[in-house]
Amino acid sequence: MRVIFLGAPGSGKGTQAALLAQRLGIPAISTGDMLREAVDAGTELGRRVGEIMAAGELVDDPTIAQVVRARLDRSDAASGFILDGYPRTREQAGDLEVVLDDLNEQLDGVVLIEVPVEEVVRRSIARGREDDTEEVIRRRQEVYREQTEPLIGYYRKLGLLRPVDGDQSVEDVHQAIVSALPVEVE
Ligand code: AP5
Repeated sequence: MRVIFLGAPGSGKGTQAALLAQRLGIPAISTGDMLREAVDAGTELGRRVGEIMAAGELVDDPTIAQVVRARLDRSDAASGFILDGYPRTREQAGDLEVVLDDLNEQLDGVVLIEVPVEEVVRRSIARGREDDTEEVIRRRQEVYREQTEPLIGYYRKLGLLRPVDGDQSVEDVHQAIVSALPVEVE
């Protein structure tokens, strides 16, 4: 199973990706987590992206493409993966297609987690991560609307989009995702 989780910042992508990954025995790959690890470890990548993330802006597409390619090349991703927070721009969607072509793999679906904007902002404020100040949260929502939302139409046209109501309990969202997947899950 090779799926993308799409949704606004705070919609529950990370929460749901972890649950489904555990159930399916495949890795949940979060570009946000990988970048935060690089920042915490003080690597060259981390030093380059720290300020961008703290401002709620997107890291540049070529940098992200490198990070994702290196991760998908690892053996644990060979039988499937959930991409959480990638792609986030039309350019990134194209980069991913190139990587998957090289690996002779294809996407099975794109799960869109839909949650009203007031609720995602409320959840993010409640979470209280370092980059969860109200100003940065609002900026991330704007960036999502401008740069990531166009991917919804893109994947719909490709017949891959699977919208799910994310404004319910974690367990109910999980069940809705399982039902929406293109492959039956035990
Ligand atoms: P990233 O870490 O991906 O952040 P995000 O997209 O802003 O997503 P979040 O982690 O905020 O939300 P989520 O949808 O995963 O929700 P979660 O499960 O945590 O990216 C951070 C930064 O890295 C970006 O701003 C950018 O700078 C950079 N970056 C990352 N990827 C990039 C890319 N591809 N290109 C360029 N730059 C990139 O849930 C949120 C909260 O809600 C939690 O507290 C959770 O417990 C709670 N919650 C979850 N589900 C429910 C529910 N059903 N009911 C109630 N509460 C819930």
